[in-house]
Amino acid sequence: MPHLEARRLTKVFGPDPDSVLPLLRDGVGKDEILERTGHTVGLQAVDMTVEPGETFVVMGLSGSGKSTLVRCVNRLIEPTTGTLRLDDTDVLALSSGALRELRRRRMGMVFQRFALLPHRSVLDNVSFGLQVQGVPRAERERRAGAWVERVGLQGYERALPRELSGGMQQRVGLARALCTDPEVLLMDEAFSALDPLIRREMQDELLRLQAELGKTIVFITHDLDEALRLGDRVAVLKDGLLVQVGTPAEIVMHPADDYVRAFVEHVDRSRVLKVRHVMCTAAAGSPLANGSALAEGVRLQANMPLHEALALVASASEAAIVVDTSGRTVGRLDARTALSALVRGHGEPSR
Ligand SMILES: Nc1ncnc2c1ncn2[C@@H]1O[C@H](COP(=O)(O)OP(=O)(O)O)[C@@H](O)[C@H]1O
Ligand SMILES: [Mg+2]
Repeated sequence: MPHLEARRLTKVFGPDPDSVLPLLRDGVGKDEILERTGHTVGLQAVDMTVEPGETFVVMGLSGSGKSTLVRCVNRLIEPTTGTLRLDDTDVLALSSGALRELRRRRMGMVFQRFALLPHRSVLDNVSFGLQVQGVPRAERERRAGAWVERVGLQGYERALPRELSGGMQQRVGLARALCTDPEVLLMDEAFSALDPLIRREMQDELLRLQAELGKTIVFITHDLDEALRLGDRVAVLKDGLLVQVGTPAEIVMHPADDYVRAFVEHVDRSRVLKVRHVMCTAAAGSPLANGSALAEGVRLQANMPLHEALALVASASEAAIVVDTSGRTVGRLDARTALSALVRGHGEPSR
């Protein structure tokens, strides 16, 4: 069962959103609806499922509806129509009291502009959610202190936000969101305001934490590289419509339309694709399947990034054997196949 599930989620901004729904159903576009009715379409019938422990990235140009989508999930923005479930909870049916509880206990949010409380220390910012929950001071400081350490800010517990760099402030934002141990973490352009190097550092930090925590994460970004790096799956929004959902490899190798193609055109495929995405798979019963015929050749892990594999297969005279984590042969890869996968329109997976 998905952890989070949106069905036909729709948001129209303006004085009479319901009046616009028939136009949307008839396929009238966002621009025309604005022109004819003065309403802005934020989201159009978005279907989205996020699995437990998945990092689900929503990507799109500015104005495509990313923030609207993530804010509909915790109802900071009230959807116009559609359904939304968190496990068994019908989120859109919740009373305001129940919704407040859901935001306090089950969902955490990290914002682009950190949104820290300026006159509170790092420790008090991180423990804020627990304070709101009524957790006694000693316990919340203990729990918050552990998170401050976990995001690499030990020694800064008593510092004020303004005394920290942008990257450090966002570490506080992350620790604050995680401190209440939410089921779902919502991150809206959380790293977009950071300098490139710091941004990459924060991406690594999130990947490291996520490997330990296995949270369900909805991560919003307009940056393709970030999306491909962080996402188990990536959803691409355009004018409030979900135009494609897929793994990073699927998005890069099979863009659904010109909009997605324009995004992925210049991406370094060798860093997105893994050996398993481009290898020739072993047919059952073939000599390859038991690996004996090629036992002396180069061995590659199926999950190895293609750019690392290229260095190994480039100089090998025979195809390399591809093995899974248990050492079982799952395919083979030669230099020619590896290279052609890097060229747009070639190297479709042979699965
Ligand atoms: N409060 C609002 N009132 C009217 N229009 C809005 C409001 N919030 C967002 N929009 C519009 O909805 C669309 C999606 O915006 P947004 O979700 O903020 O996009 P993104 O986060 O992808 O940049 C845009 O056309 C934006 O102008
Ligand atoms: Mg936004």
